Amino acid sequence: MNTGQYTCLEIFAKQTAPKGRVRVLSESQESLEKEAGSTYYAWLKFSLKPDTEYEIICDACEVSLCYLSGNENILETGVRFLEKEQGSGAFVLQDLAAWYERPTREAYHFAPWKNWMNDPNGLCWFQGYYHMFYQCNPHGQEWSHMYWGHAVSTDLVHWKHLPIVLAPQEEILLRSEAIKGGAFSGCAVADEEEVLFYLTRHQGPMQDCADTVEQQWMMRSRDMIHFTQEKCVIKSPPAEASFDFRDPKVLKIGETWYMVLGSAINGQGAILLYTSKDREHWEYVHPLITEEQNQIRCFECPDFMELDGSFLAMGAFMEHYDANGRYQMSRYYIGEWRDRRLAKTGEGWFDFGSNCYAMQSFAHQGRRISIGWISDFYDEHLRYPGGAYGSMTIPRQLHIRNNKLYMTPVQEMASLAGEILYQGNGENIVLSKIEGNAYRAKIRFGENTFFTILLGRDEDRSISLVHDTKGLRIVTKGVKSEGIDFKADVEEVRDLEIYMDRRVAEIYVNEGEAVGTKLFYNTLQNGCFELCAMKAGNVRQAELVMMKSIWRPE
Ligand code: FRU
Repeated sequence: MNTGQYTCLEIFAKQTAPKGRVRVLSESQESLEKEAGSTYYAWLKFSLKPDTEYEIICDACEVSLCYLSGNENILETGVRFLEKEQGSGAFVLQDLAAWYERPTREAYHFAPWKNWMNDPNGLCWFQGYYHMFYQCNPHGQEWSHMYWGHAVSTDLVHWKHLPIVLAPQEEILLRSEAIKGGAFSGCAVADEEEVLFYLTRHQGPMQDCADTVEQQWMMRSRDMIHFTQEKCVIKSPPAEASFDFRDPKVLKIGETWYMVLGSAINGQGAILLYTSKDREHWEYVHPLITEEQNQIRCFECPDFMELDGSFLAMGAFMEHYDANGRYQMSRYYIGEWRDRRLAKTGEGWFDFGSNCYAMQSFAHQGRRISIGWISDFYDEHLRYPGGAYGSMTIPRQLHIRNNKLYMTPVQEMASLAGEILYQGNGENIVLSKIEGNAYRAKIRFGENTFFTILLGRDEDRSISLVHDTKGLRIVTKGVKSEGIDFKADVEEVRDLEIYMDRRVAEIYVNEGEAVGTKLFYNTLQNGCFELCAMKAGNVRQAELVMMKSIWRPE
């Protein structure tokens, strides 16, 4: 492998036998070596020379993730991943675009190189770049002790992978079978010269209970590559709240700083409000909202903001089933900011597909943009080597209209539109072999119409969007979520914008009145789109275009 402009190799390695180690051998036979973790993947960093050939040798250890970093220009270039080649066993630099070209990896929704990802964290714009941090387990396709991953973009569409930022506490790694935790979710506040980060550090038994410790920590960065040491800013929850006490989101209202945190009070999901003068010392105020619906263990990943003259709060319902059988839905609340509480005037579901969780927002140049985690709550994930669990929704611009939340894909998404597959106004459109299965469909109806659209089919499994007397619904067949009612809260359907991206369907209804995200693992190379509208002449305009991969050089 040639280092090119990179000067650091980061490699996560675990021993398979005592003394297991990673050796890095240069072309002039200089050798560097570091011991792998005895029971966990140790994060090893080797300083390398640029433009030099190296060989990576693993003696009695296995590697979960490996990439080159330490490049002056890394916000532009991103890291370069290496994978062990079958047969030769050599670590070889990988081509980003080729890596994502698989039927079950998204082409244009952000997803990690491989393995587990959950919540977006620390979303912000700073000195010319959008930053997205995220919860991840670099070592496997299941949730485990948490790290923060990091990616950067100049247009919210194309992302560059950056080095891992935060790791679980050492004690957790050392006792990783007995206790769990790590760097849990949090946010960023971008000033002009510096970014402040707030996050939860979790440490506790495998089964959460009163022994679980969740504390709020902060750190800073001036270049988004180097970060200060973390400092604990809230040591314990207020007396009335449960041990679930996490996911800080910081905002300013007028001249005052506030933080919202997810928790529960007396068995009811609650968003707690804190305030601070200096952003380091925080005082508990009271709950901003308590949710009356029962059986929510905790409000996860709350967010709170001023938007279009009102206030909007949102959060995710942990361990909750709604009346339609959907698991872990996310809810939003619109209201007035009165006596430092949210006096509700409206509320609704954030995403009717319920595979969207832990959404976080940030403001930039007058836009309020939100990204959510595309999660698999129905155990439908298919594991493939080099695969990933989880991805991110399209960045959505938020608005409040008629006391309802509206969400539309950020306009930058239009830059991905490629070859036109269909343009017309037929009431039966059958495209049964869409190469690459990454497309966008826009349909405008003359008046409210009943229809069925087949969006994916793989042997006896399928996903459809159905509008009939029961309402507008995503319907899955032959998969574990079959029978669950993924229904949108809309009275009629006039307009659809559908984003199919291999295993992800993201559906925008009536220019953002409702949005539904649903996973459907299609293992085939080709996708389909089959519209059957029940009323002739009622499709005003339909357009289908291929969507380009965000990993291909522009
Ligand atoms: C939500 C969540 C957060 C927590 C994080 C841990 O998905 O459970 O509440 O901070 O994930 O990974």
